[in-house]
Amino acid sequence: PHLSMHAHDGLTVEEVPLARIAADAGTPTWVYSAGALRRRARALKAALDGAGLRASVHYAVKANTSLAVLRVLAAEGLGADVVSEGELRAARAAGIPGAEIVFSGVGKTERELRLALDEDIAQINLESAEEAETLSALAASLGRTARVALRVNPDVDARTHAKITTGRSENKFGVAIADAPALYARLAALPGLEPVGVATHIGSQITSGMAAYRAAYARLAELVQALRAAGLPVQHIDCGGGLGIPYRDEPAPSPEALAGAIKATLGPLGLPVMLEPGRWIAGPPGLLLASVVLQKQGGASSPGRRFLVLDAAMNDLVRPAMYEAWHGILPVAPRDFVAPLSPADVVGPVCETGDTFARGRALPSLQPGALVAFLDAGAYGAAMSSTYNMRPLAAEVMVDGARFAVTRPRQTHDDLLGRDRLPDWLREASP
Ligand code: LLP
Repeated sequence: PHLSMHAHDGLTVEEVPLARIAADAGTPTWVYSAGALRRRARALKAALDGAGLRASVHYAVKANTSLAVLRVLAAEGLGADVVSEGELRAARAAGIPGAEIVFSGVGKTERELRLALDEDIAQINLESAEEAETLSALAASLGRTARVALRVNPDVDARTHAKITTGRSENKFGVAIADAPALYARLAALPGLEPVGVATHIGSQITSGMAAYRAAYARLAELVQALRAAGLPVQHIDCGGGLGIPYRDEPAPSPEALAGAIKATLGPLGLPVMLEPGRWIAGPPGLLLASVVLQKQGGASSPGRRFLVLDAAMNDLVRPAMYEAWHGILPVAPRDFVAPLSPADVVGPVCETGDTFARGRALPSLQPGALVAFLDAGAYGAAMSSTYNMRPLAAEVMVDGARFAVTRPRQTHDDLLGRDRLPDWLREASP
């Protein structure tokens, strides 16, 4: 609903034509709709409320770390799920209070744990016995008590891409559910720790229905009952993230379905729940705006092949190269929208065959300078970009109604080169 096509202005985000953004900020540029972010935050909370759950939403900052995006979500009352010092700082900079922040991740450093304690965040999700000992010693030495949840690995198959499934016993995440009762008791006994709950996260881009979620949460419910029976207090349950979105035409589950699955499995425990959605919140509200550099016709050996070479590349949007991900690609100009379609390979200029966004995609013939938009690119888009091939990080723009602003200027070549230093002994060795 934040995207529309206008006969005169072409593809438009809220009330701002993408052509205007390109004229102002250049390409490639990430464009986020504040309205869509708000709508999704509200829809998710409404689904949880509708199921009668006491729930708090902790947006997974890794999906999109833009300060403007975080600020919009903070204003909607969302908390944050962070996995690094950088993400913790970004969440705090956006105005998310420490009391609304949870810290996940298998390898938090002592420095990161110390910062989490300093910020007195809501909860640290522990992923191993080793980490528990480290945090206990650190918290005790600082005279603090860390609220911790134990992340368990429920050994279920979320049936998503292998690189983003996390809840199987062979994955590096969490502790085996069989080991959880003893470890939770250990947390209660260790100085400096207060175990407040259990957590799980089974994977990302889950579109295969609610079966995997239900299986994981049912195991979590059994665990909580065992902990209670052993006299160990559990205050809440962190249900993780993972809710998928339809990139193409996959049937994607709704927040209502997820809320229903939580209610059915964890509801009887009567505890508040936490959610850590990233993609579902930030994915659809964002797009990557790019320009055609040239359209290259296949030569004698591949007649009929057509390459659309863009000024965006795998260093900007890596998901197609990394996960074979599909993103919708739309032309932006009104006349390109009605032109006849034929298959095209959409590629970037980076020197790797993997720098391919789409193969055989139905698109019009596009002239150099024509704009295209990659849809549903707000999550794991800018957040995963790199400067490979010495390409500056793209600009970021937020649209809010009829307003828009550059929320992160394009990186400059000075930014790119300026932090390199030559050691003395090489400085002399000029050619
Ligand atoms: N909580 C934890 C502990 C996580 O590891 C993740 C994602 C989330 C929450 C949020 O998951 P979401 O709701 O966004 O699915 N780069 C990949 C996705 C990696 C997800 C990593 N963990 C992609 O582009 O598909």
